[in-house]
Amino acid sequence: LENGLARTPPMGWMPWERFRCITDCVKFPRDCVSEVLFKRTADLLVSEGYADVGYKFLIIDDCWMEKYRDSITRKLLPSRDRFPSGLKHLSDYIHERGLKFGLYHDVGKFTCMFQGPGAEGYFKVDTQTFAEWGVDYVKLDGCFTENEKMDDGYREFGRALNETGRPMVYSCSWPFYKSQPNYDDIAQHCNLWRFGPDVTDSPWSVLDIMNHYRRHQNTFERYGGPGHWNDPDMLVLGNYRLSYDASRLQLAIWTIMAAPLIMTNDLETVRPEIKELLQNRHIIAISQDPSGTPGKCVLVDENVQVWVRPVTPLNALGQYSYAVAFVNTGDFPSCPLCPQTFQIKLDDLKLENPTGYLVLNLFNASETLGRFKGKDVFTTRINPVGVTFYKFTAAAFY
Ligand code: DGJ
Repeated sequence: LENGLARTPPMGWMPWERFRCITDCVKFPRDCVSEVLFKRTADLLVSEGYADVGYKFLIIDDCWMEKYRDSITRKLLPSRDRFPSGLKHLSDYIHERGLKFGLYHDVGKFTCMFQGPGAEGYFKVDTQTFAEWGVDYVKLDGCFTENEKMDDGYREFGRALNETGRPMVYSCSWPFYKSQPNYDDIAQHCNLWRFGPDVTDSPWSVLDIMNHYRRHQNTFERYGGPGHWNDPDMLVLGNYRLSYDASRLQLAIWTIMAAPLIMTNDLETVRPEIKELLQNRHIIAISQDPSGTPGKCVLVDENVQVWVRPVTPLNALGQYSYAVAFVNTGDFPSCPLCPQTFQIKLDDLKLENPTGYLVLNLFNASETLGRFKGKDVFTTRINPVGVTFYKFTAAAFY
């Protein structure tokens, strides 16, 4: 969507995978979807350094509403118990900390958790309300709508957002609900779109989403770019089920995909080594590369996949630099879940810059590996369900 927004993939935080639809704040005061959770997270985004490296959008997901609209104005109402100060107050709190405020809604009759009314029949009222609340980002889900109504719904809600005059990033779940998504249409109307299933806190979910991307990667490569991004769903780093290696894997591949980096975790309990990954400035620079070209998996050799994304800088010969991720999916038949050594000639990855590439280990920036040219063999050792991740910067001189 060419509305001047999301020129690089949005970065931020969303509660869904971690906090779901917990509405009982008596039993679960720390984990319920409430202004307490969002204020705490706003504070931590800033104090723990996440905001500084780019995680700016704090997005409320499902389960924020009262069951019914205001009987007179027909406006949506935030839960009185859990957001007693109202959303304008929360939005101000978020903005005062230099962050941006995102809000969930649904194009159909109800939200997906059936917790509140959807936007159907109220596009104008709801987008206007969002603008009044100072919303900067809208995630529009696609439950409880008929298939024929969905396409028009997503287009018209986007138009209504635009007509408010307030810039709001428009995140659509549209393709996820379609059997044959029309990406021309979707990329024209949305700043980002969910293309696959909901991520869960598991390495197999990460691999599953990677496979989903690979099946459609030529399409995704074409449609991703500044203002319009493929969204493989949230980063689950910092929770329970991703090992350190799997955490690196999700971060690296989401970066190659030019995906939004939206965390879902409890920022108070993210382990230091995972926080360091999430705040790795070299990787974030690749994610936010101004060229905005998504990468893809260019080679599969048994259990090893090589994913490549072109990035700046270009050298004087007009040759791109590349981010390259070597993935060990862990299912090597003769040695499942073993670390594996992998060797490849750069030519075989189409890294053919005649002056070669200067190689940097993105997970350990103090490790520079020197210059490699097309015929040179590059060797890397990859942990199971893990990744190694390098930047190959096109060398300027012979
Ligand atoms: C389905 C979406 O894909 C999830 O990300 C989340 O927003 C839930 N709906 C909320 O009900």
